[in-house]
Amino acid sequence: MRYGYFDDQRREYVITRPDTPLPWINYLGSEAYFGLISNTGGGYSFYRDARLRRLTRYRYNNVPSDCGGRYIYVRDDDSGKFWSPSWQPTRHQLEDYICRHGLGYTVICSTCRGIEARTRYFVPLGDSLEIWQLTLTNRREESANLSVFSSIEFCLWDAQDDATNFQRNFNVGEVEVPPCGNGVPPLSPPRYHGGEVEGGVIYHKTEYRERRDHFAFFACSESLAGFDTQRDVFLGPYRGWDTPAAVERGQSFNSVAHGWAPMGSHHVKVTLQPGETRQIIFLLGYHENPRDQKFDPPGSQTINKRTVKPIIAKYLDQDNVDAAFEALRAYWDGLLATLQVETPDVHTNRMVNVWNAYQNMITFNLSRSASFFESGIGRGMGFRDSNQDLLGFVHTVPERARERILDLAATQLETGGAYHQYQPLTKRGNNEIGSGFNDDPLWLILSVAAYLKETGDWSILEEPVAYDNQPGTETPLYEHLQRSLRYTLDRLGPHGLPLIGRADWNDCLNLNTFSDTPGESFQRAAIQREGKVAESVFIAGLFVLAAKEMAQISRSANQQISESMSQRIWDPQFYGEAAQRMEAIILEHGWDGEWFLRAYDAFGHKVGSHECEEGQVFIEPQGFCVMAGLGLDDGRAEKALAAVKERLATPHGIILQQPAYSRYYLHLGEITSYPPGYKENAGIFCHTNPWIMIAEVLVGHGDQAHDYYLRINPSAREAISEVHRCEPYVYAQMIAGRDAPTHGEAKNSWLTGTAAWNYVAITQWILGIRPTYTGLQIAPVIPGNWPGFEASRIFRGVTYHISVERAGEGNVVSLTVDGQPIEGNIVPLPPAGQTEVVVKAILT
Ligand code: GLC
Ligand code: GLC
Repeated sequence: MRYGYFDDQRREYVITRPDTPLPWINYLGSEAYFGLISNTGGGYSFYRDARLRRLTRYRYNNVPSDCGGRYIYVRDDDSGKFWSPSWQPTRHQLEDYICRHGLGYTVICSTCRGIEARTRYFVPLGDSLEIWQLTLTNRREESANLSVFSSIEFCLWDAQDDATNFQRNFNVGEVEVPPCGNGVPPLSPPRYHGGEVEGGVIYHKTEYRERRDHFAFFACSESLAGFDTQRDVFLGPYRGWDTPAAVERGQSFNSVAHGWAPMGSHHVKVTLQPGETRQIIFLLGYHENPRDQKFDPPGSQTINKRTVKPIIAKYLDQDNVDAAFEALRAYWDGLLATLQVETPDVHTNRMVNVWNAYQNMITFNLSRSASFFESGIGRGMGFRDSNQDLLGFVHTVPERARERILDLAATQLETGGAYHQYQPLTKRGNNEIGSGFNDDPLWLILSVAAYLKETGDWSILEEPVAYDNQPGTETPLYEHLQRSLRYTLDRLGPHGLPLIGRADWNDCLNLNTFSDTPGESFQRAAIQREGKVAESVFIAGLFVLAAKEMAQISRSANQQISESMSQRIWDPQFYGEAAQRMEAIILEHGWDGEWFLRAYDAFGHKVGSHECEEGQVFIEPQGFCVMAGLGLDDGRAEKALAAVKERLATPHGIILQQPAYSRYYLHLGEITSYPPGYKENAGIFCHTNPWIMIAEVLVGHGDQAHDYYLRINPSAREAISEVHRCEPYVYAQMIAGRDAPTHGEAKNSWLTGTAAWNYVAITQWILGIRPTYTGLQIAPVIPGNWPGFEASRIFRGVTYHISVERAGEGNVVSLTVDGQPIEGNIVPLPPAGQTEVVVKAILT
């Protein structure tokens, strides 16, 4: 069953009923100001950091769900009936309803009692504010006297503190509703002249009196009939957002918040003739003042509004708003143009061309911080997560990828180890969600390799980067990569495999913690017995892949970068040999006979072996070892993949491990804390599925690779939305495995490494359009029944028009570039000045 449809032309997902199984959300913002917005107007906004600069409140895990949002009420002043055009929070029956989630914007349209309301929400490029552009049309035969109320609830900035520290917070709330003197409310229309705006703007300035230099503003384009800023006055005692007293009685209270819960609500009266349309603009934004110019006049406690007024004035103008919206659309069209494909499969096309690429950008911006499943206070930017996310967006915004790499590397420690996360606002690493995950540093090598292949910008390797952000410790980025590899080599276990530490990619395989304290964090519990025994075959595979990349990087870098730098370049042979040694160890101690082992536990016993009672086969090492090239020439890769197919594959995707752990094992940790079928305990952890797709490509199985691709492709699962339940336009982290009663149900949509890896698997491996150090490689391994496909790819400033045609059953590629046949499958870079290249590939 479906709850909407894809509008491929407009690049929108159109939701046709408000009561989706879960809130189906979208994101607003692409630079510094962000918000999430559900299909019924729910969600919240923040500036840069969802925890430390939260603008509005949201109540996670509330009933009804999705509570808190950008709510508008329309009231028919003749009958006194009122409703919300976005359905929530009043949930009145609407005559029609449609929500269009687009790239960086959401439009919600509905009709109720003959009044059509269309609200377009978006964040313009270049400014830190969101726009709600409400268009009301009277579809009745007679005129309508309406009251419109806006509403948002301010968060007192630090979302964690806001939700816990009530003894203080009930006293600190402050707003400004200018001009506020003598108790006279500012009922005059906002006037703007010469870029100035007066009246009609609600300012939230909690803690501005002391150490904050920022405030929020909530503005409206119309004359106000009233306003409210004290939540409990607006709502009335013991009432919820579904029945605010002000809306019910049809008149704001003009409340001025002092302490308690500051909110913003404008009251606008509108009379519409039959057929008449009116537009009302609301702006919610964030603004900072220089510390020494906070107040106006100086010495007062009044916010200096001189720098914010021109911004407000600009966006209260409808033409400027429309222009900003067009600019936003053009921005996304530009980003997506980097790669567009036309294949015989609609699900592939729509995910690659629009939604997967979009989700990659959202995970780039937010890492794992704020979604319907991530509260915005739990996690900052993960080190391993952000490095992997980069694989999915590096071609879209290479300059921002560069900055991200340098930020991440600056949180690396001198040992080569890494903080597990950093806060985007401070860019400082912290151990709040644990440390000592021994895979972390290696991911930096993969992201830098991807950046170099995409851009050819070798200068990044020479960029001085500090350790732990400590001035004076800078070394070239290249040395950070060396230390990443060193970190593994310095921590080898009894079999010569890498020690796992706290955990590896699988956060929940905690072989050294032995936690028996209720509620203790597995990520922070102390490591027992110095962690000198438990080893990870996964890290070994990752190491081989990373060392091979380093060999290539140093080989090319020797030619590409300056003298002083090249003294630091280790012999590429060193990396090659390190990779070989580790390969030999994996083949000796990390192979179980039919598949790759997962690990050795703290007693030196096998994990992920046929000898185990439960957890015999794990997906991660099968994917990563084959991706690193292991077993490709001796049949082990094929064997491992056959085991995956036989034991782990389901129609809903590939399970993380089998058999599921049926009870808690002290020596395995959090993985066994989950009931069977969920998350790391035998859920379909979608992040890992593309590793298997890539591995299948490496053994030449195009049909199998694309089949796995479709099993978790959100668009392909749209038709079973009642089972899948999450948004059909983005990947979710997990789909319940076959051991769960809810097999096929997705959770934790949007912020997941699944997005980047699926994008890499389909575009670079199945479609085979792959950046390399020396040019664009074209090596498709596509399904047998595809006649071919077309693509256009912008790579290092050149547009490649690619057409692939199947002339036989295999995967052998013959290339013609601008009409000339070439050797091999890497298209050399064209001479400087040439901006278009035509590539024809014949598969036989
Ligand atoms: C979560 C984490 C990620 C980890 C994965 C598997 O998605 O963000 O870092 O690799 O779980 O445990
Ligand atoms: C839990 C989750 C895992 C996630 C981790 C983040 O362990 O199961 O997926 O990576 O929390 O801290």
